[in-house]
Amino acid sequence: MMKLAPSILSADFARLLEDVRKVEKAGCEYLHIDVMDGHFVPNITIGPLVVKNLKKENINMVFDAHLMIENPDSYIPAFAEAGCDIITVHQEACTHLHRTIQNIKSHNMKAGVVLNPATPVETLKYIIQDLDMVLIMSVNPGFGGQSFIEPMIEKIKEVKQLIDSRNLKVDIQVDGGINPKNVAKVVQAGANIVVAGSAIFNSDNIEETVALFRKNAYL
Ligand code: DX5
Ligand code: ZN
Repeated sequence: MMKLAPSILSADFARLLEDVRKVEKAGCEYLHIDVMDGHFVPNITIGPLVVKNLKKENINMVFDAHLMIENPDSYIPAFAEAGCDIITVHQEACTHLHRTIQNIKSHNMKAGVVLNPATPVETLKYIIQDLDMVLIMSVNPGFGGQSFIEPMIEKIKEVKQLIDSRNLKVDIQVDGGINPKNVAKVVQAGANIVVAGSAIFNSDNIEETVALFRKNAYL
């Protein structure tokens, strides 16, 4: 079954807890936290302090931190301490990706690798067996509200094939430009965790939009 991961990038940061409660109430499984440093991506968002403050509110969702930052290793202990359940790091930001993945796991969190739209699936070949999740970017990271890059459907299928051919159990998350209109093809291609920012938080009725995502996913 598809799980939904609302991205708080499109939430109202002045009313963050209120917005998070809305997606929690709507039954979303993951809370997708976009961490940007103004270096790896041209935008700055939030860090471990905000995660820590949210965590103490007993939110019944998986805390899923998407690190769009340089030198992620330096921040893994802080995100672990803040209460993250899973951390994903960009393939393009990690010189020693295998070491970074082990670092995340050594802090008792799940670990995933993110691929930018132009990064080929082949780069996962020698690391896939160590991963809990692969995150396929379907927009260039940095901003919410961009359009889905179509060739990423083929990429999702390739990742699914790689995982299945090795008999592994690795989640496939897709992030960027997903809405109730295009969610079906993302899920049919093999994604089981769908990130959505603007489509959820900019909608007038979050509960209805979440229901529409679920209904359309298997149409
Ligand atoms: C982009 C972020 C995404 C973004 C998705 O850098 O990683 O999580 O918030 O937003 P939408 O769903 O609006 O494309
Ligand atoms: Zn993200």
